[in-house]
Amino acid sequence: MYEEAIMQFEAILKSQSQRIERMKNAPPPKNHSALSKIIIGVIDGDGIGPIIMKEARRVLECLIKDKLQSGKIELREIEGLTLENRIAQGKTVPDDVLLKIKECDVLLKGPTTTPQKGSAVPNMESANVLLRKELDLFANVRPVRVDEEGIDWTFFRENTEGEYALGSCGIDIDGEYSIDFKVTTDEGTWRIAKAAFEFARANKKTNVAIVTKANIMKKTDGRFSEICHRVAADYPEITTEEWYVDIMSANLLNKALRRQFQVFLLPNLYGDIITDEAAQIQGGVGTAGSSNIGSQYAMFEAIHGSAPRMIEQGIGEYADPASILKATEMLLRHIGCIAEADTLYNAMKKCEEEGKAVVTGDKKGATARAYTDQLIKAIESFI
Ligand code: IPM
Ligand code: MG
Repeated sequence: MYEEAIMQFEAILKSQSQRIERMKNAPPPKNHSALSKIIIGVIDGDGIGPIIMKEARRVLECLIKDKLQSGKIELREIEGLTLENRIAQGKTVPDDVLLKIKECDVLLKGPTTTPQKGSAVPNMESANVLLRKELDLFANVRPVRVDEEGIDWTFFRENTEGEYALGSCGIDIDGEYSIDFKVTTDEGTWRIAKAAFEFARANKKTNVAIVTKANIMKKTDGRFSEICHRVAADYPEITTEEWYVDIMSANLLNKALRRQFQVFLLPNLYGDIITDEAAQIQGGVGTAGSSNIGSQYAMFEAIHGSAPRMIEQGIGEYADPASILKATEMLLRHIGCIAEADTLYNAMKKCEEEGKAVVTGDKKGATARAYTDQLIKAIESFI
C-alpha cells in the first residue's frame, strides 16, 4: 500500500548519504581575496531585479574602476536566469546557465521569482535554493545594524539543510495527506557552527545565541543543538546561549534585551524567518544584504524577493536598491576590497544623513536611479 512512498523515501535516504559524502570530501576552501584574478558573475534576476542590479553595477564600476581596467577583476554578465527562460527550458536553473555560473568565483544576484504551487506558471524549485545547494553555499550570513540602538547583529543561517534540503521532495500519500522532511547532519551543522564561532572570535564578539526548537523537533534540532554546543566548547572565551525560536522572535522586539545579542546561529528555516524580522527592525527587508558563502563559491544577494507587484503597478523604478547595495558591500569585503567596501558603507550613510533622495518604494519617493546618482556623488567625494 505504501510501496511508492517507501521507494521515494529510500531514494531520499540515498541522496542524503551521497550529500554527506560530498561534504566530507569537499576540496580545500578557496580564499577569494587571495586570487590573482576574480570573476564576479552578475545575474539580473526577475521583476525589480534588472532595475536594482543596473544600479549596483554602476556603483561597482565606479568603486573598482582601476581593478576592472587592470583585469584584476572581471564583471561577467550571466544571462538566462529569468523566469521566462527557466519555464521555456523546464529547469529551475538551465544547464548552460549553471555552467556559466560555475566559471565565476563569486556572484552578485538579483532576486528571482519562485512560482507558487497552484499559480498559472509551472511549479518549480526556487532558483536561490537550487543554487545554494548546487554551489554548496552553506553559510547564509546576514548582518543587521541599528547604530542608534547599539544593535550589531550577525546571523549565521545554515543554508543547505533543514526543511530546505528536501523541500521539493515531500510525499503525498493516498491523495489524503502529505509528509515533508527536515534533515540535520553532523557535517552540515559542524561547518556552519564553526563559521559562526570563528567569525565571533575574529571580531571579538562575546556572545553566540543558538536558536532552535529542540524541545519539539527533538531529532533534527536536537542534533543541531548538540553539535553547536560541541563546537562552542572550543571557544571558551565566548558565552554560548540557546534560545527557542518562538521566544527569540519575541526577544528581538524587546528593546531592553535585544542589544545584548551579537551572533546568531540558526538552522535554515528559523534563520529565514528571524532574519526578515531583524531586517524589519533595521528599517525593512529592503535594507538588508545577504551573503551565501561556501568553500568554493560565494553568492551575494538582496534579502527580499523580485516584487512582481511593483512591476504590475508600473512602479518598478521606485524599488529600493539598498539591499543589493549592502550585498555589494559584503561582496567587496569578501574579495578583499576592504577600502572600497568601507567607502560604499560611508557613502550610503552620507546619503541617508543628507536625505536628498529617499526611496520609499512608491511614487512619493526617489527612483533607484536618482538615489544611486546621489550615492555615486558621495562615493566620488570620498575617493
Ligand atoms: C531568503 C528568501 C529565500 C529563502 C526564498 C526566495 C527562496 O526568503 O533568501 O531569505 O526562503 O531562503
Ligand atoms: Mg527569507
